[in-house]
Amino acid sequence: MEIPVRFLPTQTAAPETFLIRQVLGEGMGPVVAPVNTMVIRAEEPVIVDTGLSVTRDPWLEHVFELVDPADVRWIYLSHDDTDHTGAVFELLDRCPSATVVTNMFSVLRMSADRLLPLDRIRIVNPGESFAAGDRELVALVPPTYDSPTTRGLYDRKTGVYWAADSFAIETSRAVDDIDELVPGEFREGFLQTQRMVSPWVGLTDPLKYARHLAIVRDLRPAVAVGAHGPALVGEQVESAFLLFEELPYLPPADLVGQSELELLLAAIAAPQLA
Ligand SMILES: [Fe+2]
Ligand SMILES: [Fe+2]
Repeated sequence: MEIPVRFLPTQTAAPETFLIRQVLGEGMGPVVAPVNTMVIRAEEPVIVDTGLSVTRDPWLEHVFELVDPADVRWIYLSHDDTDHTGAVFELLDRCPSATVVTNMFSVLRMSADRLLPLDRIRIVNPGESFAAGDRELVALVPPTYDSPTTRGLYDRKTGVYWAADSFAIETSRAVDDIDELVPGEFREGFLQTQRMVSPWVGLTDPLKYARHLAIVRDLRPAVAVGAHGPALVGEQVESAFLLFEELPYLPPADLVGQSELELLLAAIAAPQLA
């Protein structure tokens, strides 16, 4: 059994900033899972996260429609989870000028499978930046996250903040913009998904959490987009921050149980019986 995956049309999030978008699980259950990566066609091109190993080849084709492998200078890994690192070794093979930008704990955690070449790594820690020609890109911890290694990436030139797993939204279908959702779906899907990603958020002191939110919020990003939801633009970004503020007060997320799994299995089997 394989999970269905489909590529959506590549989106432009800002000048020379592109989202390569996949959607997982269509037709399987009540929600779908977006998986985005980003390409910044800066003077020194940057690939931000590297997708899934199961769709590595078509993903590489999408990337190289935007940028020539010889021109790729930076590969930014927001963290070491496998849905963000799927093609990193292939990119290093195909892009001889590329350096991986990440943090040392990510490298160590990935080394359980394979060690990144240490002479092709640039370490950035929270608040530190690197230059990609005309862009200064700053590593900043996102509002929610599922790994101690997670750092988003803020582009000072365009105001785009790459949020890794944060700003994720479970939706009933793939959409280009949250304005396509039915009323209430954004709120419900957003709060559910943040708590799935960050179960620790319910343990936080609301005032301390608000100070954490301010790291990114005070930048007033023009666009906030992570790997698992549509790009939020303009006022949508602040709408999301208002929802983040609620997280410390909420109970844990609802989890999928055995009965839901059995319904899913029955739905998958049903067409084969017809
Ligand atoms: Fe993650
Ligand atoms: Fe992820």
